[in-house]
Amino acid sequence: MPVITEIEDLRRIYKRRVPKMFYDYAESGSWSEQTFRENTSDFDKIYFRQRVAVDMDNRSTRTTMLGQDVSMPVALAPVGLTGMQCADGEIKAAKAAEDFGVPFTLSTMSICSIEDVAENTNAPFWFQVYTLKDDDFMRRLFDRARAANCPGHRGDGRSAGTGTAPQGSEERAVRPAQADGEIGG
Ligand SMILES: Cc1cc2nc3c(=O)[nH]c(=O)nc-3n(C[C@H](O)[C@H](O)[C@H](O)COP(=O)(O)O)c2cc1C
Repeated sequence: MPVITEIEDLRRIYKRRVPKMFYDYAESGSWSEQTFRENTSDFDKIYFRQRVAVDMDNRSTRTTMLGQDVSMPVALAPVGLTGMQCADGEIKAAKAAEDFGVPFTLSTMSICSIEDVAENTNAPFWFQVYTLKDDDFMRRLFDRARAANCPGHRGDGRSAGTGTAPQGSEERAVRPAQADGEIGG
């Protein structure tokens, strides 16, 4: 097992391990990918303020989120098709989140079911909902989330996402072909 020192190490290993289309799915943003780039570059502008000779006892990142005790105020955001990247990916991510003491969010677009994740974890996990026009299906989905004790069923823990699929990875595939004059004008 290689030693992981930072997120960039994980990204490099991930790139070697998965087919290119899976990598591109996770490592691209919408259209010009401006937000995707700025998600990193904006954080690069933030520095920690160095403080010396201060009392470091009793420091803690512990808090609560949606009434749940967490080791730090961070949750795993919903990532569709995680199980495509790695077998049982959603279960593995949920277990890792549980071990670390932070919430895991299961995407509507997951490979592992709500029940699969619930069976393999003890901590409550959040369920992200994409609303579809099929009321029956939505009702059953909420019932299943409620049965699995997902906090989202009370109306919190839900995220509002885009109504259309982002095009980033398709654009990445198209751009080199355009540059080579294979398509477009
Ligand atoms: C590959 C990928 C898949 C995602 N799938 C979903 C999804 O299924 N549902 C959802 O609500 N958000 C989805 N998101 C959005 C993330 O949950 C998150 O809100 C977004 O990436 C912003 O957080 P970040 O700045 O930490 O990346 C996805 C993001 C990525 C990169």
